[in-house]
Amino acid sequence: MRTAVWFGLVLAAVSAARNVILTKPGQTAIFECPFNKYRSLIWSHENALIVRIEKKTGMTHKGKGGIVDRAKQKNLKGPTLEISGVKDEDAGEFTCNADGELQTYLLFVVSVSVKPSADLQLGSKAQLQCQVKGLMQGPPVKWRNPGGSLQPSELQLDSVARSDAGTWKCMFSHDGLTYNESLEIRVTEPATTTHLPDSSQNSKDFSNPSCVTNPPPLLLGLSWWMWVIIGVGCLVVVLLMVIIICLYRRIKRKRVSKENHRGEGSCGAFPTAAERPQQRRRREKPSPVLLQHHLME
Ligand SMILES: *[C@@H]1O[C@H](CO)[C@@H](O)[C@H](O)[C@H]1NC(C)=O
Repeated sequence: MRTAVWFGLVLAAVSAARNVILTKPGQTAIFECPFNKYRSLIWSHENALIVRIEKKTGMTHKGKGGIVDRAKQKNLKGPTLEISGVKDEDAGEFTCNADGELQTYLLFVVSVSVKPSADLQLGSKAQLQCQVKGLMQGPPVKWRNPGGSLQPSELQLDSVARSDAGTWKCMFSHDGLTYNESLEIRVTEPATTTHLPDSSQNSKDFSNPSCVTNPPPLLLGLSWWMWVIIGVGCLVVVLLMVIIICLYRRIKRKRVSKENHRGEGSCGAFPTAAERPQQRRRREKPSPVLLQHHLME
């Protein structure tokens, strides 16, 4: 039992000794070694040498690999290592070894991103991603939205809401401690949707009065000028028929008068159906209708 407690305490001490350092890709990671008294100092990354410094002679021996080219050894308060332009593959354990005294660091490279951009349009689709490199175990990485609720680390927003605006936090924990990386999201109302209802209302306002103020007066589905044309047309047809009937009668009568050697007959204008037989019977008699004179001359 006692050994278990001791073992636990030792483990805690070891893990506490591992400084956790958070960076984003492209940033500079800074490691400060707490040991000032040493003869030789070795900086390593995942057990691979970055640089070895001999204090007495000031000689340095560099390792191989991409990270070595981006590493700079400084002496500020103590020996300090700076890794510029951090990459995902830089994540992991760093060690400062001062004559056998060790200080270890755990570098997490945290990438937070939102597609298509941090300026999202209301109702649009978006993809939020949080990736933590260097995290070996523990609870899964989560997004904490501005409202405070936890979401998966790879999140698809089908329709961006106003409540999505604000600070999103990518949360992860290591050795019982919780870390986070922030991402600011702005939500803008798309200009098209705010103007569309206005423009449609305007077009209605413009179209409605034209329909109300200019209603074509319809009689049996025809406008007034159609009735005028029909009326005039009927009048012309009636007049033409009258003229044709009169001319026909005149010609007939001329023939009859030539045969009988008699005077000219008359054209009975507008005879009713009842009058016609009578007129025919009394053809000889000149009728005193005014129209007759016009037609004769
Ligand atoms: C996020 O981390 C900062 C320190 O980096 C801490 O002060 C803050 O409380 C953390 N936020 C949450 C929600 O854990």
